[in-house]
Amino acid sequence: MLASRRILLIIGGGIAAYKSLDLIRRLRERGASVTPVLTKAAEEFVTPLSVSALAGEKVYRDLFDLTDEAEMGHIQLSRSADLIVVAPATADLMGKMAGGLANDLASTLLMATDTPVLLAPAMNVRMWQHPATQRNRAQLAADGVRFVGPNEGDMACGEYGPGRMSEPLEIVTAIEAALGGGPLSGKRVLVTSGPTHEPIDPVRYIANRSSGAQGTAVAQALAALGAEVVFITGPAEVPPPQGVKVVAVQSAQQMADAVQAALPVDAGVFAAAVADWRMAAASDKKLKKSRDGLPVLEFAENPDILKSVAQMADGRPRLVVGFAAETDDVVEHAAAKRLRKGCDWIVANDVSPATGIMGGSENAVTLISDNGAEEWPRMSKDEVARRLADRIAQALSV
Ligand code: CTP
Repeated sequence: MLASRRILLIIGGGIAAYKSLDLIRRLRERGASVTPVLTKAAEEFVTPLSVSALAGEKVYRDLFDLTDEAEMGHIQLSRSADLIVVAPATADLMGKMAGGLANDLASTLLMATDTPVLLAPAMNVRMWQHPATQRNRAQLAADGVRFVGPNEGDMACGEYGPGRMSEPLEIVTAIEAALGGGPLSGKRVLVTSGPTHEPIDPVRYIANRSSGAQGTAVAQALAALGAEVVFITGPAEVPPPQGVKVVAVQSAQQMADAVQAALPVDAGVFAAAVADWRMAAASDKKLKKSRDGLPVLEFAENPDILKSVAQMADGRPRLVVGFAAETDDVVEHAAAKRLRKGCDWIVANDVSPATGIMGGSENAVTLISDNGAEEWPRMSKDEVARRLADRIAQALSV
């Protein structure tokens, strides 16, 4: 969706500038071109050489560089892009923009442009919370500037709170949303993700090793294609994606209820590792050691969420996608599971410990549909998600 889109990336002077190097890579691998502009302060954090090497383009640094003015004046530079992204957007840059100052290349470009602008702020917590920054943010938002982040978390300066720049993939999603018009715009999709926790008593629970990484990546990729995503997640290790509606649940029953509440949808992707069993009767008091021996845990079966949606008589989503984590005879087991559950596609993978897939950043999947089994090479979970999202977009477009 970013193929042949032109991004003018202004890198401000902050420690988060290093993330902008990764952002350039992510944009280019999606087919976008990136024209980088560095402020003077940014050069203290990243070198023009590394930025231009990654962007594959010249870095613009100085307003009064006459060669550039001859080749491409700052007015033209500011208008030749589809979107201007400022990452990191420092308190200083935001102040200049809000106040209409233009005393260096970055601020002049931002004043001269009629192209949409997206800011990814990054600064110390107190600076972000300062009334001046908040005034500037409100002013810029009123001027039509878009924002992604900042996120809350540990900061390089040792403090905790809002001020961390969004992660490169979150910025990519915001860029895609700002450019609009994705193949899934107007489509509503639900994604389940993560493990479920089934309580034994108020302090203990049964869980599994799902990190939620693949489901999160799928939700992010669907949102990037313009879908309205309802993301229903158990207690996952990875943070939820940005730009989606997040419904956080603990148990399988809560997940089943949340899925029912999210319907109707055009497509459902069931990536959660739902516990098959719960306690027949979870104790409302902490179980104590007793002289009568070990406690006996009696199980009851959880609702099969995927199956119940796949087999809906009325209002079934047009496309229902399940996942199958297997350790042996992966394709046979997964193909049988597809028929048993009644879903359209199954994304099957081998989660034997030797593969390193469970909890890792890569996945090797086989997509099973009416057309048979299609084996995909091993790739990052983000890439699997992007391919799957593309396929979902194709399926919903016919
Ligand atoms: N699933 C679900 N609700 C459940 C169990 C599973 O929605 N209670 C979904 C998962 O999200 C996944 C698919 O069903 O998309 C496969 O789950 P899995 O647990 O592997 O299937 P099972 O039916 O448990 O099969 P088996 O025990 O034979 O592995």
